[in-house]
Amino acid sequence: MTTDAGGTAALPDADHLPEGEEKARAVRAMFDTIAPRYDLVNRIMTFRMDVGWRRRAIRALDLGTRSIVLDLACGTGDMCVDLEQGGHRPVGADLSFGMLAAARTDAPLLHGDGLALPIAGGTIDGVTCGFALRNFVSLPPMLDELARVLRPGGRIALLDVAEPPNPIMRWGHSIYFGKAVPLIGGLLSDRSAYRYLPKSVAYLPAPVEVQRMIATAGFDDVERTLLSGGISQLYTATRR
Ligand SMILES: C[S@@+](CC[C@H](N)C(=O)[O-])C[C@H]1O[C@@H](n2cnc3c(N)ncnc32)[C@H](O)[C@@H]1O
Repeated sequence: MTTDAGGTAALPDADHLPEGEEKARAVRAMFDTIAPRYDLVNRIMTFRMDVGWRRRAIRALDLGTRSIVLDLACGTGDMCVDLEQGGHRPVGADLSFGMLAAARTDAPLLHGDGLALPIAGGTIDGVTCGFALRNFVSLPPMLDELARVLRPGGRIALLDVAEPPNPIMRWGHSIYFGKAVPLIGGLLSDRSAYRYLPKSVAYLPAPVEVQRMIATAGFDDVERTLLSGGISQLYTATRR
């Protein structure tokens, strides 16, 4: 990532995956840019499957109604809306002010980094996180923060994209994700952002490594579920 003459963070470049503070600034700038049409592009490029995946994550929390659920990296608030409809009390948090400004939810929203949440320890019943794991600078500190805010017995349900295990599906998916998504995103929104998004999957550690990180952060019952033939994945676990 570079900065322009005015010092504003530039969007990430698909040919260079930034790290550390550079990555955080680039990710925030990218989501600020694509926020106005983020929901539209999501629905089109996933054929609305993203809606079902979020609802599946909420069911997997397996929490009673009126539970307080933090939706980390809530973006435009889709998961908050579904949590409310499921009878929960959501709170959203996101790094991108542009995404929060485009949100259509009545849930309280926090603007800031999910690595340092302004939430007292042990006060949250559940945490959801949709398609954002690969956007964090580092997963272990993020998981430590989730462990801190959750009460013992609290649940997490973390969604992200995945590579299908079946080789034929993986081939078709890589063409769709690598070629069609940047095309659709470029036509409807920002081309460089939607070129970067498929590449950003490289940030995701191997599933076994993610599961090990979750357990190390203080969670039991760590499970990974593949959704829609493995183009999406859901990690669930219970706070020890
Ligand atoms: C692909 S969007 C997902 C939005 C939403 N969860 C959904 O399901 O559509 C990723 C979101 O992660 C947010 N994000 C990235 N890094 C973050 C961080 N360190 N703390 C909080 N939010 C972050 C971005 O601003 C963006 O809104």
